[in-house]
Amino acid sequence: MKKLYFFCLMAAACLLELPAQTATPINNEVINTIMARRSVRKYLNKPVEHEKLEAVIHCGINAPSGMNRQPWVVRVVEDQKLIADVTEVYKKENAEQVKRDKDFKNMFRNAPNLICICTPANGGGELEAGLLGENMILAAQSLGLGTCCLGGPVRFILSSEKAKFFLERLDIPTDYKLNYIIAIGYPDEQPEARPRDASKVKFIN
Ligand SMILES: Cc1cc2nc3c(=O)[nH]c(=O)nc-3n(C[C@H](O)[C@H](O)[C@H](O)COP(=O)(O)O)c2cc1C
Repeated sequence: MKKLYFFCLMAAACLLELPAQTATPINNEVINTIMARRSVRKYLNKPVEHEKLEAVIHCGINAPSGMNRQPWVVRVVEDQKLIADVTEVYKKENAEQVKRDKDFKNMFRNAPNLICICTPANGGGELEAGLLGENMILAAQSLGLGTCCLGGPVRFILSSEKAKFFLERLDIPTDYKLNYIIAIGYPDEQPEARPRDASKVKFIN
């Protein structure tokens, strides 16, 4: 009986989930870029050109911030060996998971480059870090690049003693901490839009 109740509950939850909204009534280049963006987890074996990474970063640091404080530190990883080395640590500590993933190339959803976003160690700056990140994600999309926001790999790096060298290599100031990573590269997949719950929005008029 309990099982049936659980099944009905799950079925109801699925039915309530609204389909992904992939089109808007008004379109332009920016709106189309926003609507076309999806998290990419398969990438071509082709690092992003330095100039493109620079353009993406430039868009990021032009995001708004409270009193223009810019409470972030950003590190762009172009060093393929650093990604491979920390992935080796990850593979040893997550062997089963890696074995199950037939597409596994590295622990950053297989991306060739990383943008590491740091916020003040004593808290705050998360809102700005998010705005900075979305600017970069959309700039990347407009350049034909794919991205994926990553929290999981950050948790691993912060918790594993053996992955410490990665943080040391990032050379993060002592008053900042690694908050999240944006994986970036040339996409090797075109993921479908995931459902969005438009019922969470109310227009007050
Ligand atoms: C703060 C944050 C952390 C995330 N962490 C991960 C992650 O560790 N691994 C992953 O594959 N995707 C991660 N994602 C991507 C989300 O799963 C994704 O954005 C969401 O499912 C919506 O799909 P879409 O981006 O394709 O629209 C993260 C996204 C955000 C905003």
